[in-house]
Amino acid sequence: MTLWRAVLLPLLLAGCGAKPMAAQPTLDGQPPIVIAHRGASGERPEHTLAAYRLAIDLGADFIEPDLVLTQDGVLVARHENEISETTDVADHPEFASRKATKTIDGVEVSGWFTEDFTLAELKTLRAKERLPKLRSTEYDGQYAVPTFAEILDLLAEVNKDRAKPVGVYPETKHPSYFAAIGLPHEAALLAILDKYGYKGRRAPVFIQSFEVANLKAIRAKSDLPLIQLIDGEGGPADDPKASYAAMASPAGLRAIATYADGIGPNKAMVIPRGALGTLGDPTGLVRDAHAAGLKVHPWTFRRENYFLPLGDKGGVNPAGHGDLAAEINAYLATGIDGLFSDNPREAVVVTRAAQR
Ligand code: G3P
Ligand code: CA
Repeated sequence: MTLWRAVLLPLLLAGCGAKPMAAQPTLDGQPPIVIAHRGASGERPEHTLAAYRLAIDLGADFIEPDLVLTQDGVLVARHENEISETTDVADHPEFASRKATKTIDGVEVSGWFTEDFTLAELKTLRAKERLPKLRSTEYDGQYAVPTFAEILDLLAEVNKDRAKPVGVYPETKHPSYFAAIGLPHEAALLAILDKYGYKGRRAPVFIQSFEVANLKAIRAKSDLPLIQLIDGEGGPADDPKASYAAMASPAGLRAIATYADGIGPNKAMVIPRGALGTLGDPTGLVRDAHAAGLKVHPWTFRRENYFLPLGDKGGVNPAGHGDLAAEINAYLATGIDGLFSDNPREAVVVTRAAQR
């Protein structure tokens, strides 16, 4: 137990009115799943085969690739199409002239974009740590940008001897932007999942998106499980009239249930933080989503003090590790059906222990 939890947290909670709650069940009574967010991205550069393999070795139930497209239409794993934060592209003089400024989902972005590179060109780059002030950079320069097919190959290899396969949880990134430049996600994504044997409602896959239209388009062609991502503010980039706040209302959740199987909310929508940064009381989001028949997979759980709530921090060094287990346990008590974590090393252990 950290100093924060042992000494300061009870005092803070006494002043904030936070109440312990009885543990709530998941939607289907099954154990919550651990989704390795961008792989084991707390320990390896995100969205690399090394990060995914480590996550699998650590017991994650699903691995999460965010997907963008190359100029030649190949799905690759990057969190955004601008790649200077997570690759060494800026160190490649042969690509200096590719630097550009574009408007992506209404935001002006400068850098290098996957849609301006063929897969062969992209493969000459190497991944680097996105958060070098918080995490080790010792693996920078070692790993290439993986294609979605390479990720599915990895899963096929590790799953061949498993009774319960490790699943894949792909996110379509900026789908309406990519569709507008002639590189839509949907057909490519469905074709490759079908090719690798992911078929039907029980396939070990969840397709997720912050946008709506691409999920509805996929639902029209497929019954693979779908997750509508929702954030604490703003709304889907493909529908300026919609807001995530309205989508998280009971009526909004019932509307999501007409095309999706669950929601992936910002974790603050499940348990907000108080003014002091401690965890507050849970909202009714899990209850309302379950009432609509939707699973709830909040994001993102990280072990560094920088990200943890006051009360679970292990000191004042932002890069130090605090009590991620305590934070996750508070969320598991709300009945969430799974969670995204950069740290499956810790998240798998605490999630399994909570089932005993
Ligand atoms: O997809 C769930 C979570 O990953 C959403 O946030 O920005 O990390 O893709 P982001
Ligand atoms: Ca994601």
